[in-house]
Amino acid sequence: MKYGHFDDNRREYVITNPRTPWPWINYLGNEDFFSLVSNTGGGYSFYKDAKFRRITRYRYNNVPMDSGGKYFYINDGDTVWSPGWKPCKTELDSYECRHGMNYTTIKGVKNGVEAEVLYFVPLKTWAEVQKLTLKNTTNEVKKLKIFSFVEWCLWNAAADMENFQRNFSTGEVEIEDSVIYHKTEYKERRNHYAYYSVNEPIRGFDTDRETFFGLYNGFDEPQTVLEGAPRNSVAHGWSPVASHYIEVELQPGESKELVYVLGYVENADDEKWESKNIINKSKAKATIERFNTAEKVDIALAELRAYWDKLLNVFTLKSGEDKLDRMVNIWNQYQCMITFCFSRSASFFESGIGRGMGFRDSNQDLVGFVHQIPERARERIIDIASTQFSDGGCYHQYQPLTKKGNNEIGQGFNDDPMWLIFGTTSYVKESGDFSILDEPVPFDNKAGSEVSLFNHLKVSFDHVINNLGPHGLPLSGRADWNDCLNLNCFSSDPNESFQTTENKTEGSKAESLMIAGLFVVCGRDYVELCNQVGNLAETDRAQHHIDAMVEVVKKYGWDGDWFIRAYDYYGRKVGSVENEESKIFIESNGWCTMAGIGQEEGMVAKALDSVKERLDSDHGIVLNNPPFTRYYIEYGEISTYPPGYKENAGVFCHNNPWIMIGETVQGRGDRAWEYFRKICPSYLEEISDLHKTEPYVYAQMIAGKDAFLPGEAKNSWLTGTAAWNYYAITQYILGIRPTYNGLIVNPCIPPEWKGFCVTRQFRGATYEIEVKNPNGGMKGVASLTIDGLLIEGDIIPLMPKGKIYKVEVVML
Ligand code: GLC
Ligand code: GLC
Repeated sequence: MKYGHFDDNRREYVITNPRTPWPWINYLGNEDFFSLVSNTGGGYSFYKDAKFRRITRYRYNNVPMDSGGKYFYINDGDTVWSPGWKPCKTELDSYECRHGMNYTTIKGVKNGVEAEVLYFVPLKTWAEVQKLTLKNTTNEVKKLKIFSFVEWCLWNAAADMENFQRNFSTGEVEIEDSVIYHKTEYKERRNHYAYYSVNEPIRGFDTDRETFFGLYNGFDEPQTVLEGAPRNSVAHGWSPVASHYIEVELQPGESKELVYVLGYVENADDEKWESKNIINKSKAKATIERFNTAEKVDIALAELRAYWDKLLNVFTLKSGEDKLDRMVNIWNQYQCMITFCFSRSASFFESGIGRGMGFRDSNQDLVGFVHQIPERARERIIDIASTQFSDGGCYHQYQPLTKKGNNEIGQGFNDDPMWLIFGTTSYVKESGDFSILDEPVPFDNKAGSEVSLFNHLKVSFDHVINNLGPHGLPLSGRADWNDCLNLNCFSSDPNESFQTTENKTEGSKAESLMIAGLFVVCGRDYVELCNQVGNLAETDRAQHHIDAMVEVVKKYGWDGDWFIRAYDYYGRKVGSVENEESKIFIESNGWCTMAGIGQEEGMVAKALDSVKERLDSDHGIVLNNPPFTRYYIEYGEISTYPPGYKENAGVFCHNNPWIMIGETVQGRGDRAWEYFRKICPSYLEEISDLHKTEPYVYAQMIAGKDAFLPGEAKNSWLTGTAAWNYYAITQYILGIRPTYNGLIVNPCIPPEWKGFCVTRQFRGATYEIEVKNPNGGMKGVASLTIDGLLIEGDIIPLMPKGKIYKVEVVML
């Protein structure tokens, strides 16, 4: 069953039934101020860091699901309702939520009153703007009582949920005109506050939560709203909230627009106060002023739309398949921006408390985003590299607010360094900006330790070759890409974290074939980069190590029909036909086939066929098979998950594109496309009841064939799946791939495709590319012409900027 539909012209997903199988959410803001908003108005806001600067409160995993948010309550005579259905859950006469590019509108109709809320964060603004439009469609005069509602978080989202002996005494507010200020802790160590305003004189307000709701009432029955009268409470400690009360009288046919601004301000130390204990509100007032009419709000929304037009015009596809085009042109790119902004920190599955920006995650995320705003990818690369250690090792995560490595999450994940090469070379190929390589970048953020970014890449490369195991394969460390394959952990204590515990390391023989393949793929990019900058000695040195790795993989990594996954602590094979369970894994087969290791000997084709036979399912390719059915202390967390979930034989969507790309290396466009479609959310819209999560974004995991309910997805939005599927479809299936000196066009498509058209902006020029497939081939370029001129090979060379070029590619 479907719960809505795509509106491609407006780049929106339209939800027409509020009872979606799971909250279907959207993100507002894409730079500093962010909000999450569900299809019923649930969610919260924060500034830069969902842990340290949480502005409004949200209770995860609540009963009922998705409780708390930016709510509007309408008291219309006998009826109390909300435009998003929740929290009142009064049956609406009609409901519609439109999630667009960084904005959401939610519209409810009840008893002839239409109420639509537009939520968005205007560009370059530290505030969420909400425009509430009320319309009376009846023949009678309507007298409506409107209550807004947000609940303040006491800034640190973790402390907010645990330190109640303190929290219940710290809350402070100020109310001036129609603005409610949340100034908790402002007088001591904080120089920031938040506010919530409305562009209309208020008739009352509440700022104390218990007064607003009544101690034993839920979000659905605030006593003030039910009574139709605010109590003008001023919070002192407990839980401060902000609710404005407004009375609106609407003649038949009349409508009214109200603008609310939920904002955040930082003041310099010497500008904190207006007078004794009265906060300096000038910045808040300036922002409120910028949005104090509906017209100004509409202009700001138009600017946001224009911003997205520009971003999404860099790559546009016309394939004749709507479901594919809307993913490539709209939603997959949008999700890449979101993962770029949030890494794995804040979604409806990630609490915003546990994780900051991941080293490996952020490098991969930027690969899906770099064509949109290369300058921001550049800044991100420098931030990430600044957390690296001088031996090439890395903190696994850093906090977005401080940009410093987060030691709680630890280090020693031996795939991490390689991803810096992956991210940086992708950036240089897209932008042509070799100057980033000369940028001075510190180690572990220590002033004085700076070396060039190029040197960071070198130590990354060397980190692998300085950490080889007994077979000459890369040592795995805490884990490689698979955080749950913990080969040195040996934990029997449930209070230990699998990610930060290594009970055995001395003499470990745990080696990773996944890192080996990754090293060959990224190492080749590094070699090419060294070549480009004329560092031939390094080119040769690096090439030598790659060649050696290829040989070692062929010798010790091949199991007969596929690549093994690893060697464990004792030097025993993992992911081999010899194993009792989990005889085959996806990751090593993805990376070694992407690297084309043993292609001539038939290893690539064979490995991919084994993946097809043993790992493929109706809902995508599972991670391993057969799943683990008991705990293996020598493998760690992977064997703790029930069969079919997460890293234990779930369809971990992040790694499916590795196999898709592997298939394109082998030239099998039909297989690559089949795998793409299986996990692509727009193709799953019809089975939303099973799939559960949003049909417009990828989820991290779909329950695998051994699970209780195969096909059920979890953990939507913040996943490397976004970047990887975008990368696979655009660069390997459609085959349009930036390289240092031009744009490669070398598709690998299913034979039934007659062709497709892509418009690609690249290094200042626009290429209108038409691919024709007259003979039903899957791979291979017969000819490539630019404005009618034949070019040798499959690379569009860099053409003078500012012009449009017509490129025609005919496949073999
Ligand atoms: C999660 C992590 C990612 C890891 C993956 C596999 O998605 O964010 O870093 O690679 O799980 O364990
Ligand atoms: C869990 C998850 C994994 C994630 C890791 C890091 O083990 O299974 O996907 O990467 O936590 O927090």
